[in-house]
Amino acid sequence: MKILVIGSINQDLVIQMDRIPKPGETLFGHTLSYFPGGKGANQAIAAARLGGDVHFVGKVGNDAFGEQLKKYLAGLNLDLQVQTMEDTPTGTAIISVDAQGENAITVIPGANTRFDSTDLEVLTGFEKGDILLIQNEINLPVVYEAIGKAKERGMSVCYNPAPAFPIPAEVLAACDYLLVNEHELAICFKKSGLDFMNKKEIGRILLELSESTGSTLILTLGSKGCIAAHQGELHEVAGMQVQVVDTTGAGDCFCGAFVSRMSNGYPFSDSLQFANQAAAVSVTKLGASVSYPSLADLKVKTP
Ligand code: RIB
Repeated sequence: MKILVIGSINQDLVIQMDRIPKPGETLFGHTLSYFPGGKGANQAIAAARLGGDVHFVGKVGNDAFGEQLKKYLAGLNLDLQVQTMEDTPTGTAIISVDAQGENAITVIPGANTRFDSTDLEVLTGFEKGDILLIQNEINLPVVYEAIGKAKERGMSVCYNPAPAFPIPAEVLAACDYLLVNEHELAICFKKSGLDFMNKKEIGRILLELSESTGSTLILTLGSKGCIAAHQGELHEVAGMQVQVVDTTGAGDCFCGAFVSRMSNGYPFSDSLQFANQAAAVSVTKLGASVSYPSLADLKVKTP
């Protein structure tokens, strides 16, 4: 099965600091580093590195960041369709990472907002059973159109609605897998004030949402692992104990790894555990996709 990822490419500017500043506060950081990023590119890279057959569609601006990011992507095992857009900068993310590895991210989307319907012609190269993996970091109307068109072709739609917005009913109806974290669950499904320590209650809510949407719901819980509602059953994977350096892009690693494993024919519960393990490895180094493991790093059965 082939995987199509349509999504963002960003230049990440990563500041390491003791803690993230409060509004109105000035703090010193320790280091400033430049890493490739963007949720779309991160997920495509994770999927490809972990054995997926990935085609990635993205856009950069006509600037030095764009050139650099295109070179980085070209050196990876991806089938690429990256367009350089005039008169717009490459997407940029300013990321503050604190001493615990937690982050705060501000994205200036730039070229990532320049997708249109013509970019979706790529879907004609995909068929029933292939997978679309998509996020919310490009212009939303195109995200929604891509989901609808992929569904019409019989593709399996995996949607990571990040950053989060409420999801229109017809879009929800076209999704097969929804991958969300706590914030995204609250915003996308208007569920505020949830106690994520209460796994029984969270499980009940996931089952309910999965039944009403007709899709599999996967909730990632960072160091606490993940819970999923799939075909009327709950699946829970415990978190792994690792030395956390930077959690940036861990959710993207999870999404890419999950889809990659499924595309190679592994069962749902195996794919969840695989994704959980890959995401745990990704937080042990600074940066998003540069910290993603390969199959050899995970020491698991190969496709
Ligand atoms: O999910 C992590 C990503 O979010 C970063 O790479 C950054 O570019 C932002 O898009």
